[in-house]
This record gives sequence, C-alpha cells and structure tokens, in this order.
Amino acid sequence: MKIAPFGVEQWMNEWETGAVTNLAETCVDSMTMEELLDISDASGTSGAREEIVERMMKLRLSYGDILGSDELLESIASMYGRAGRGNVMVMNGGSAANFISLYTMIEPGDEVVCAYPTYQQLYSIPESFGASVKLLRLRYENGFKPDVDELKGMISDRTKAICVNNSNNPTGTVMSQSELREIARAAESVNAWLYCDEAYRFMVHDQSAEIPSAFDLCERAVVTCGLSKCFSLAGLRLGWVVAPEGFINEAACRRDYTTISCGRLDDLLGCVAIKNRGRIFERNLSIVRGCAAMLDEWVNSERRIDYVKPEAGTTAFLRYDYEIGSEDFCRGLYRKDGTFLLPGACFGPEFDRYLRIGYAYSPDVLEEGLRRVSGFLRDLDEEAGPN
Ligand SMILES: Cc1ncc(COP(=O)(O)O)c(C=O)c1O
Repeated sequence: MKIAPFGVEQWMNEWETGAVTNLAETCVDSMTMEELLDISDASGTSGAREEIVERMMKLRLSYGDILGSDELLESIASMYGRAGRGNVMVMNGGSAANFISLYTMIEPGDEVVCAYPTYQQLYSIPESFGASVKLLRLRYENGFKPDVDELKGMISDRTKAICVNNSNNPTGTVMSQSELREIARAAESVNAWLYCDEAYRFMVHDQSAEIPSAFDLCERAVVTCGLSKCFSLAGLRLGWVVAPEGFINEAACRRDYTTISCGRLDDLLGCVAIKNRGRIFERNLSIVRGCAAMLDEWVNSERRIDYVKPEAGTTAFLRYDYEIGSEDFCRGLYRKDGTFLLPGACFGPEFDRYLRIGYAYSPDVLEEGLRRVSGFLRDLDEEAGPN
C-alpha cells in the first residue's frame, strides 16, 4: 500500500537535531525521570519516590499485561466522563493509536472528510487504506474553525468518518462544545464516525475553559490522546484510543499483529504520570501560558506577521507578508543562525505563506528564537527595499 510522505515529520527529521534555537518543538518542555519522580514525591505521600524506584527495580521485564495494566486502563478512563476501562486501548504513542484506529475503521471505497491543516496522519492514513478523502479547509478568516455548512455539503451515506483535531495542530484553535456537537450531529446524520485527535486537549490557555472530549459528546466517536504533549513525556511512547467497546475489540484484534503489549516501564510510569496529572498540568500550563503571552507580544510587534491567536496547545500558525515561500523562509532562517521553524507548506501548498511555531518548550529559547526571527525579517525588509 502506498502512503504520502509525512511532510511535517520529514522536515523535523532533517533539520531538528542540528538546530541552535528550536522553535518547532510541539511537546511542552519534556521532563526528566527525576522531574517526574519529584512531582510524584510532592504528592504528599511520603516515600512515593522510593516506592516507584523500588517498583521499577523489581519489575520483571516480561510483556506484562498484554492490554495494559488495570491501573493504567482505569486511570486513562477516569479522564473521560463516560468511559470505562473497556473503552480504552493503549498503544505506543498517539501516532500508533491513530494508526490502529484508522486501520480498524477504514475500508477501500469509504469516504472520509478531514478538516485541515492538521496532523497528516488523519488524512494520509485513510487515503493509504483506499478511502477517498475530502479535505475541509480551515480558513484564517473563520478563525481556523470548520465551516459546518461546508462540511454538511461534503458528507454523504458513503462517509465513514469525519476527522478533526481539537485543539488543532498547527493553528492552536479550539472547537467549543457546541461546535463539536454540531459536527457530531452531522456525522450521526450519515451514520459516520466522529474521529477526534485530542493530543493537546489539556493545554487550554484560558484558566476557566476546558476542551470536552468528543467521546463524551457523541455515541459514535473515536478519540486519541497520549502522554507526549500535555504530559511532557514523549519518551514513554504511550498513547491511547477511547471508543465504544465493540470498536476497541475490533482494534485489539489488529493490535495483536502490531504491538502485543506496550512496555512495562512505560505502563508503570504512565500510571505515575496520570495519577499526578494535576501537578504536571500546573507546571505545563504555566509554561504554555507564559510563552503564549511572549509570542503574542512579539506577533503584535511585527508589522508583517499576524495569526489567529491560539487558545490551546503548544503551536501557532503565523501568517507572513513577504514574497518568499515557506520552505525557503525556513531554510534561510536556519542557515542564518540555526533557528528552526516549520514551513506551512508541510501542511499543504495552500499554506505556503505560513510558519508553524512550537512555542511552549522553554521561555529562554523562545525569547532568543523570536529575536533571531526578527533579525531575519529585517534582512527580508532590507531586500524588499522601502515600501
Ligand atoms: C495532533 C497530534 N497527534 C498525534 C501526535 C503523535 O504524537 P505521539 O505519537 O508522540 O503521541 C502528534 C505529534 O506531533 C500530534 O501533533
């Protein structure tokens, strides 16, 4: 089966490791093992850290519980309003969760509608399984929110799934509960799945707001998430699918062929992370909110850069007004002084005057990186001459 090259991941693989200031990182500043254990120790349970280390040392490195430990499945389910452990399947990261879910769902000849720009898995995997994919473009003028009337015009009895990503990577926009419900109703009207990648769901900038899981809003929803972004634990490679039990059973049948089990260490530390998510989110939201404010100030200070201000997540989609394609822009910036941004063209040719910035990594890196981007913009201003 053929599959389109993954634009974002290929660009990251090529440029990321040599970057001096990396403004393309999408995980909130990743934690060390030590930080994770410190956070669990701060839980007030005396000896929590020692107990975890002891459990790790005694852990027999077998396959472990094939479907994941009871504690892990139950703690994941507890993050959803109406999920039980039978609604949860753990995989190696959200990317594997997306793959197995779409592998379970899609058959040749199906139609899929996918809102984009988004994480490319959500349309290229269905396409590789033989679906005919219709892309619903998210427009700057609509605040990068789906136009539900346009969506309704794209679905039919052949539609198997409507794929969305809430909050959205790259734009950082959020669909509200009522917007999500409207899309869910559109999916229900043609008996299609609502497929929602929720990798950034817990990083909402407004302290009083929350992003509802699509699973809690609709009967025929499949949602994915993981520990990489909001929990800062990409190195654990733990993600999950939450879906109706029948779907999970179907997916489990495919999982036997690809995964057997997730690592036992990942399972153990995943339980620690989810149990301590209050403190982890507190740490991360303070980074995300501080960095988002710094980014906003910078965008307002740059005459030829604008954006739809992100409401959640760790990324924003910067629109620029210079006569240079986004790949040349990013190569030029990188060559000048090692600053790394992601070209909008990785999300499709329509987005060639955009750049994706990942801003929630470290305030110092962000500050330095933005200073360097401004330096590059002054070079472009100079080349363009007075206007
Ligand atoms: C929207 C979205 N979903 C899923 C993933 C996959 O992440 P992981 O496999 O590390 O959980 C990413 C990674 O960038 C993402 O941005």
